[in-house]
Amino acid sequence: MKKLIIALSSVVLVGTVAFADPHEEREDLMKSFGKALGSIAPMAQGKADFDAAKVQSALAELNTQVKKFDVAVLFPEGSATKGTSPKIWENMDDFKAHVAKLQADVGEAAAAPAMDIAALQAQLGKIGGDCGSCHEVYRLKD
Ligand code: HEC
Repeated sequence: MKKLIIALSSVVLVGTVAFADPHEEREDLMKSFGKALGSIAPMAQGKADFDAAKVQSALAELNTQVKKFDVAVLFPEGSATKGTSPKIWENMDDFKAHVAKLQADVGEAAAAPAMDIAALQAQLGKIGGDCGSCHEVYRLKD
């Protein structure tokens, strides 16, 4: 009986790996970026009071998430969908350079979180620009 349970659980485990969907995974990751940024963007827009502790934790969270942007896992060859441009796989080095720039800019911001609105606007402007410049070329509207 015990053996059977162990055998079954290993099948389930293998199943999970085999069915992992890179499209879903990258959507989840991108959404986490949006969530972290969305929690502090209103401050930069003057719609919420500046809160240094909140900025710090949101940037730390974003930094944790962008480090998970593993192109080989999230954008493997053959995982194109209607949301992805085929250019990703044609210009893989450039695509990876966009990821590296995002990671570098978020890392920098997380290491020295903005202490006032002007600094926050500059940091979010830079990071948002990284999101946008990649989307402009490699993400298709669906
Ligand atoms: C290296 C390129 C690149 C960077 C940098 C990037 N994205 Fe994306 N993003 C994509 C691609 C490609 C898609 C479409 C994925 C798909 O449809 O499978 C996407 C999709 C999304 C989506 C839609 C997810 C969904 O539910 O369909 C959101 C939200 C998003 N990105 C937010 C962000 C934010 C916020 C940032 C910056 C912090 C960012 N992205 C940085 C390439 C990038």
